[in-house]
Amino acid sequence: MSETLNARATLDRLWKPGCDFLGSEVAILGGAMSWVSERHLVSAISNAGGFGVIACGAMSPERLEEEIVATQAMTKRPFGVNLITMHPQLDRLVDVCLAHNISHIVLAGGVPNSATIRKVRDGGARAIGFAPALALGKRLVRMGIEALVIEGSEAGGHVGPVSLTVLAQEILPHIRDVPVFVAGGLGRGDAILSYLEQGAAGAQLGTLFAASEESIAHENFKKAFLRANARDAVTTVQLDELFPVIPVRGLSNEGGRNFARLQGEALRKFQSGELTKEEAQLSIEHYWAGALRRAVIDGDVETGSVMAGQSVGMVKEVRPVAEIIATLVEQAVDAIRQRETRIHAPS
Ligand SMILES: Cc1cc2nc3c(=O)[nH]c(=O)nc-3n(C[C@H](O)[C@H](O)[C@H](O)COP(=O)(O)O)c2cc1C
Repeated sequence: MSETLNARATLDRLWKPGCDFLGSEVAILGGAMSWVSERHLVSAISNAGGFGVIACGAMSPERLEEEIVATQAMTKRPFGVNLITMHPQLDRLVDVCLAHNISHIVLAGGVPNSATIRKVRDGGARAIGFAPALALGKRLVRMGIEALVIEGSEAGGHVGPVSLTVLAQEILPHIRDVPVFVAGGLGRGDAILSYLEQGAAGAQLGTLFAASEESIAHENFKKAFLRANARDAVTTVQLDELFPVIPVRGLSNEGGRNFARLQGEALRKFQSGELTKEEAQLSIEHYWAGALRRAVIDGDVETGSVMAGQSVGMVKEVRPVAEIIATLVEQAVDAIRQRETRIHAPS
């Protein structure tokens, strides 16, 4: 028993910088997921001791305000808001967050400008950014970002090319002035522990929470998660470098296969002069419009975009958020205990 208490105290020491920064009991962030990270999931994560984050996505300032107020009615604990930097009304969205005393704003989807970071901080909120590489991470810290998320290519949704294993080695030893949270492919507490030991302040998970009981995702969406293995969570393909495609990781389905065909068609039409380059590129970009909503809300998991990380293979049942978080903590504590036993085993 006291061994377990000691192990829990070790875990709490390891992720203390993350807990202190977030104001949460455990340094586990619920990664913002468009359509999924709304009042129910966000409040459930914060109420369970983690840190929920609302995904603003393409919401209008009025819609975001409504969601913030509704979430605040469901939890007294802190939660954050994730804003996409290229949103045309970014400034107004920041105003809405500040007017409602949001404590943490995650600036996602590109490099935020210094003015936005300053506005967030001057307004009394903490500014969090994404670092896809060490140089950019350092630049963001110089610009005033107060914590970083490093997200490996194992993650669900829009991804970069580098795995968390490598990003962590490149970034964690060199950025010690601000807390760094790791994301991508995390499904167990022992894996989270290994990154804490490398210097991470905490972890961000998406896929596990998307399939939780409190997630409003359609039953079909959750069932698709339960059926899937890690290898089913694939990135969208780019057929030709002439028409760039931002990779998105999700479950392989008819929609993904059609996307490859559509690119072939657009390329052929451009080469034959039927479409200009811009028209062909637009037809490719428009393909996924509304596709995540179709999958998450309408339950169309065949042609919709079922964004999921490779950790989807570890989703075996739909469970309450509190249970998911408790299991992650137990696994981390258990791993610390087992390590102690291994280290002190007689040779
Ligand atoms: C369904 C889904 C939607 C997502 N939407 C967003 C988003 O709108 N903005 C964002 O910054 N990240 C988004 N992500 C990424 C998550 O915030 C998180 O970083 C990622 O899921 C972590 O990796 P994991 O899925 O392996 O746990 C999304 C992920 C999923 C699975």
